[in-house]
Amino acid sequence: MSTPLTLRAEQPLVPGWAAGTITLGCDYNPEQWDESVWVDDIRLMRELGVDLVAINIFGWAQLQPQPGPFDFSRLDRIMAMLHEAGIRVNLGTGTSSPPPWMARIHPETLPRFADGTLAWPGGRQAWCPSSPIFRQKALELVTAMAERYGDHPALALWHVSNELGCHNALCYCDVSAAAFRTWLRQRYGTLDALNAAWGTAFWSQRYGTWDDVLPPRATRSAGNPAHLLDFKRFSSDALLEHYRAEESVLRSRSSVPVTTNLMVTAHIQTQDYWSWAPHLDLIANDHYLDHRLGDPLAELAFSADLTRGLAAGRPWMLMETSTSAVSWQPVNHAKREGELVRTALGHVARGADSICFFQWRASRSGAEKFHSALLPHSGTAGAGWASSLELSALLDRLSPVVGTRVEARAALVFSWQSWWAAEGDAQPSRLLQYLPEAHRYHRALRSLGVTVDIVAPGTDLAGYDLVVVPTLYTLTDDDARAIADAAASGATVLITPFSGIVDENDAIRPGGYPGAFRELIGTVVDEFRPLAAEATVLLDSGRRARIWSEQVRVLSAEVRDTFVDGPAAASPALTRRAVGAGSAWYTATVLDDEGVLALLRELCAEAGVPALEVGPDVDIVNRVSATERFTFIINHRTEAITVPVAGHDLVSDERIEGSAVVPAGAVRVIASGRSDRGH
Ligand code: GLA
Repeated sequence: MSTPLTLRAEQPLVPGWAAGTITLGCDYNPEQWDESVWVDDIRLMRELGVDLVAINIFGWAQLQPQPGPFDFSRLDRIMAMLHEAGIRVNLGTGTSSPPPWMARIHPETLPRFADGTLAWPGGRQAWCPSSPIFRQKALELVTAMAERYGDHPALALWHVSNELGCHNALCYCDVSAAAFRTWLRQRYGTLDALNAAWGTAFWSQRYGTWDDVLPPRATRSAGNPAHLLDFKRFSSDALLEHYRAEESVLRSRSSVPVTTNLMVTAHIQTQDYWSWAPHLDLIANDHYLDHRLGDPLAELAFSADLTRGLAAGRPWMLMETSTSAVSWQPVNHAKREGELVRTALGHVARGADSICFFQWRASRSGAEKFHSALLPHSGTAGAGWASSLELSALLDRLSPVVGTRVEARAALVFSWQSWWAAEGDAQPSRLLQYLPEAHRYHRALRSLGVTVDIVAPGTDLAGYDLVVVPTLYTLTDDDARAIADAAASGATVLITPFSGIVDENDAIRPGGYPGAFRELIGTVVDEFRPLAAEATVLLDSGRRARIWSEQVRVLSAEVRDTFVDGPAAASPALTRRAVGAGSAWYTATVLDDEGVLALLRELCAEAGVPALEVGPDVDIVNRVSATERFTFIINHRTEAITVPVAGHDLVSDERIEGSAVVPAGAVRVIASGRSDRGH
């Protein structure tokens, strides 16, 4: 199921990294502009210090306006101009959105929704990930691109497609149905094995022939959860296969590193990036503040920590973010004074060595014309351009952090597959949601000033002092063993409810919940007793909890808290079992935010992880090399904070003695010698 990360050997990364500076980059869409504007663009890019531009992301229709030969003349010219200006290129293969003729001539390449409705062209990404015709046409373009530009002196990085799966991840058409069956045959071998894995004895779902197996199209009742889970796995693999097909064409003709921009974010869940990461030379993420969430800055930190997990701790690239507002949320909030710097540094603090923006010049037309850009509609006269210049200058001053690693003594185990499966249609409560729970535990640790590595199930956790396992609903026996081993070798491990419930086929692990962790936590859950939407329950400690309670039987653990009222009154709500040199804690409920904070404070104390109590609107993260430590302090608050740290502040170029006063909205990056232990 989950693939522990084995990254490629160290690869040459994009220039800029090699030169030891933080790369400043952007998407650039020259096809939207007359060539006379390009001259101005390049002059201003140089003025701003842009190192890397992503071009040809949506270039297909310009390169091939009709089926037939490609016209590379404009792309040749802009490549040459960028090269002459010393700006490196992150070259899109251009396959993310086909030209309009594709749907006319090959309508079978269009994707379908679960109810069978066709997704028409007119937006972007109107293609079925499993379509052989689309794949063939895309690879013709990629081949021509690789042959033409594979050793172009401006080329620094290949950018396959764009945000694979942003709009077309789940396709339910007949072509996808056939590809799904092929994928299932590879996974199960026989129909009997599939029937057993999916539990098709239930509701007369047994398959007698492969041809009857379909994607989980819209039904009148709840579908089969194992079928739904496998379709998500298949869909993630189908897009990865597309990536790999383009990647292989590029690698056979060019030695330049290859990547694609991932979407590690709260509103996209369709790709299991743990299985993608080993195929990328450089982990690149797109992140935008999501103002639909309760705490967008906490989600930024979560995304950045998870992206670093995908990079197995190595530096990574923020391939896209916005200078200010986006154009795709219900209300598109502009960034406040200083927020561009604070958010960009939020990513650098958590391991990004490249900060790139969507996009260079704000568009005049199209669905993103109100999206912010490095060069806004107001040109160079307004505050937008001034903020871009300010950020560029600051990134230059942070060159010493390039290549350093983030220091973390806590880990959080994250699983896309548990996200998919835990939130199925027929669970004990729809109120228990996977991602918000993972976010809450991460957010609490961030507000204690504790940096967290977000890791895949199955990761070797040796060396972490604290391990948090939120709602890890589906996992393999090996994944469970890695968590038990962490406790045995000295870590404090916390497991939260609805973890370890099913195997990788979404079948209950028998013998009492949570089957995968029963022995580790020394307790057994006899029954889930979820709560109504507004209900709260009181615990013995005075803490309050919501959403979930359980009837728990203790086998060999200490009871640390008990339900006072509610449907599980008198049952244990929090248990701790000493395990080897460490411990395994289990919470049988959804503690409110204060309860989570109090519990994590206790766990940090037990684990010996220092808690700085910085509160929710401050980031404190250390990046370290063998000899140096860089303490990032990002103060999102409206009042100054004081942090006990001494050294040289790279931001203000001042010496800090004893403690750093960080004014409201300000950032500090304090370089000091490395003396104490790190992870
Ligand atoms: C994504 C896409 C870009 C653009 C931005 C807008 O990241 O990759 O093409 O649409 O969103 O925020």
